[in-house]
Amino acid sequence: MTLKLTVIGTGYLGATHAAAMAELGFEVLGLDIDPAKIEALSAGRVPMYEPGLDELLARHVAGIEGATGRLRFTTSWQEVAEFGDVHFVCVNTPQKHGEYACDMSYVDAAIESLAPHLTRPALVVGKSTVPVGSAARLADRIAELAPAGQAAELAWNPEFLREGFAVEDTLHPDRIVVGVRSERAEKLLREVYATPVTAGTPFVVADYATAELVKNAANSFLSTKISFINAMAEVCEAAGGDVVKLAEAIGHDERIGHKFLRAGIGFGGGCLPKDIRAFMARAGELGADQALTFLREVDSINMRRRGHMVELAREACGGGFLGKRIAVLGASFKPDSDDVRDSPALNVAGQIHLQGGQVTVYDPKGMDNAAKLFPTLGYAPTALDAVRGAHVVLHLTEWREFRDLDPAALGEAAAERRILDGRNALDPALWRGAGWVFRAMGRPLA
Ligand code: UDX
Repeated sequence: MTLKLTVIGTGYLGATHAAAMAELGFEVLGLDIDPAKIEALSAGRVPMYEPGLDELLARHVAGIEGATGRLRFTTSWQEVAEFGDVHFVCVNTPQKHGEYACDMSYVDAAIESLAPHLTRPALVVGKSTVPVGSAARLADRIAELAPAGQAAELAWNPEFLREGFAVEDTLHPDRIVVGVRSERAEKLLREVYATPVTAGTPFVVADYATAELVKNAANSFLSTKISFINAMAEVCEAAGGDVVKLAEAIGHDERIGHKFLRAGIGFGGGCLPKDIRAFMARAGELGADQALTFLREVDSINMRRRGHMVELAREACGGGFLGKRIAVLGASFKPDSDDVRDSPALNVAGQIHLQGGQVTVYDPKGMDNAAKLFPTLGYAPTALDAVRGAHVVLHLTEWREFRDLDPAALGEAAAERRILDGRNALDPALWRGAGWVFRAMGRPLA
C-alpha cells in the first residue's frame, strides 16, 4: 500500500514539498492554519511566485479538471492525523524580534496541535531549520501527547531547497539527510524518497543532532563563501583590483569552485541571515560560542555591503540625496522569487528614502510584497518607468530581464546616465558603450 503523506505549513517550503510528493505518486494532504492559503491552493493558485509550482498544482490538486486528485488541502488537524502515515512539518522558524535566536513557536504549535490526534502509527518528520536539540525535545513532547504512544515517532529531515529552484531541488535533491532513532523511521523515509534515491541521490542517515547541524553547517558555509568574496571586493576596491576577475580565477581551483562567489550587496532572504544568527545563539547556549565567532564577522561583512551601496549611491548623487531621483531595479532578495524578506535591495532602497532620496522601485515579481513592507517608497510598473528622470540607477537584484535592458533607451529616459551594479551581473562594456557612467562593487571605475 502506498504511504499517505501530510504536509503541515504550506509556505515556500511546504507548498512545494506537498506538490512534489504528489508528483512522486503519493496521496498528499496539506494543512495550514491560514484558511486563505488553503482556499487558494485548493483552487490551484500558488500564494507566492515559484517557477513550476503552478503546473504541479494543476497536475495534482483534487477538483481541478484533468488533475490526478492526489493533492488536497485542509485546516483540520484531526483530518491530517487520521489520513497520514508520515507527517512533514514545514512551518517557518523566523528570527525572534530583537534577538539572534530562532522563534520556535510555529514548530512547537504544530507538534502540540498534531500529537494529541495521533491515535495510529505515524512518523512525524521535521523539515524546518531548527536549533540543534529541538528534535530530541519534540520527540519527548510527542511521546507525552500522542495516544498512539511508541507508535508515534519523530524524525528530522532538513530541507536544502533554494527559492526560485524549489520544485527542481525537491524533485532532484543533491542529498537527503535524515536524523532517526529507529530502523522503522529510516525504512519509512527510504520509502518516501525511493524515487530520487534510485536515481542516484545520496541518502545520509544520522542521529537527530547531526541531521539538525547539517543544515546549520551548510548555510553557514554558503554565507561564509559569499562574505569571503565580498571581503575580497572591499580589498579590491581599496587596491584597484577587480573582484569578478579574482572570483573567476580562484574558482578554477576545484577545491574552491565557481559557485557562490558573486560579490555584490550580499545575501538576504528568509534563510541565510537568520539561520547563521540562530546558530550563533544556540552555540552560545551550548557553551560553544567561540567556535562560531567567525559567523559574527560573516554577518557584519554582509550587512556592511548594504551600507556601502548607499554610500556609492550618495557619491553618484553628488554627495547627498535631497532633490535626487533614484531608480532601484530589484526588490526581491534574489531573482526568480517574489520573496522580499530581509531583501538587501529593499534595505538599500529604504535607507536612501529615509535619507531624503526620491526612490522608485521596479521588480518583475516582488512589487506587491515590497509595497506591503515599504509602502512609502515609489513603485513603477516597468524598469523604463522607474528609470525615467532618475539621477542614478541602482541594479540590486539580478533578474534576467535587467540584463536584457537596452541601455540606450534607458539613457534617453534618465536625467543622468549613472548606474551602479550591486550584483555584478550587468555587462559594463554594454552600458559604457551607451554613454553610461557604470560602476560595479569591487571593480575598477573604468
Ligand atoms: C538558501 C540555501 O541556498 C538553501 O540551501 C537553504 O535551504 C535556504 O537558504 P535561498 O535563501 O533560497 O537558499 O537563496 P540562495 O540562492 O542561497 O541565495 C541567498 C542569498 O545570497 C541571496 O540574497 C543571493 O542574492 C545571495 N548570493 C548568492 C550572493 O550574494 N552571492 C552569491 O554568489 C550567491
